[in-house]
Amino acid sequence: MRHLLSSQQLSIEAIHQILDTASTFLTPDGLVRSNPAALRDRRFVLAFFEPSTRTRLSFETAIERLGASSVIFNQAGSSVEKGETLEETIHTIEAMGFDGIIIRHAQNGIHGAVASCTTMSVINAGEGSIAHPTQALLDASTVRERFGSLQGVRIAIVGDLRHSRVARSTSDIFQRLGAHVAYSAPESLLPTDDYVSSLQRFETIDEALEWADVIYLLRIQRERITEDIVPSIGAYRLGYAMTTQRAQAHPGVVILHPGPVNIGVELDESLLSSPQALIHRQVTHGVATRMAVLQTIFSETR
Ligand code: CP
Repeated sequence: MRHLLSSQQLSIEAIHQILDTASTFLTPDGLVRSNPAALRDRRFVLAFFEPSTRTRLSFETAIERLGASSVIFNQAGSSVEKGETLEETIHTIEAMGFDGIIIRHAQNGIHGAVASCTTMSVINAGEGSIAHPTQALLDASTVRERFGSLQGVRIAIVGDLRHSRVARSTSDIFQRLGAHVAYSAPESLLPTDDYVSSLQRFETIDEALEWADVIYLLRIQRERITEDIVPSIGAYRLGYAMTTQRAQAHPGVVILHPGPVNIGVELDESLLSSPQALIHRQVTHGVATRMAVLQTIFSETR
């Protein structure tokens, strides 16, 4: 594996290998341990053409804990603003001797195009509305830690499935690890392609809660929505929000969310710190899982 572009490129064996490696980085007190000799002298660029807190910081942390170094490429203030093409930007970065580039970009297909024109390893840190493979791996790692395995775990993905890159990658990995995946969303936020066609659908979160072990909430991706298709917040909460009352009525259900959370829309604020929610634990798994991805790619290519 030279690049990580999609969840679909990963075999089941590769997924298990990454999750097993990630688990070696998690300490009994719930934090992440270092392996500073693993990627010594490796150099990475973090090129985020869209905002990010979790993914960018967890990649930076993962790189530092593996003994490698990173620099940030900021589009704002770069020669992209003077009209330099993405391809020439990539060649310029490559000429400085970096081993890998970690990219988030709003345009579908950019990551594959970059991979085909560079000698650097390309790692997808979020691609338009179609892929977020390291999010999928960290989600699987979090569920596996809680349930021991994903085999037979019932996971309902609730929210904006139409614009979510997370839902596409995460539902793929969850299913291939043996979880039962279902979904619930208002009509206007259902996907226009067929990636959920084989999955069970629930009309509302209340129906999903009667079935699920895990509710995986999605944020309404307002930055990707151009038409007026979003229901009112009141109507959305009635059908699809994880409220305090709903959580209390289903105390065995685990709540996941990739973040950032629209507090008061898909999730009540009090639930962020509830033992039912593993949202901050997902962030910790993000560091361990991204360490595992980097170690897997770069121990193979050294
Ligand atoms: N889940 C996720 O990708 O979060 P960020 O946008 O904060 O990186």
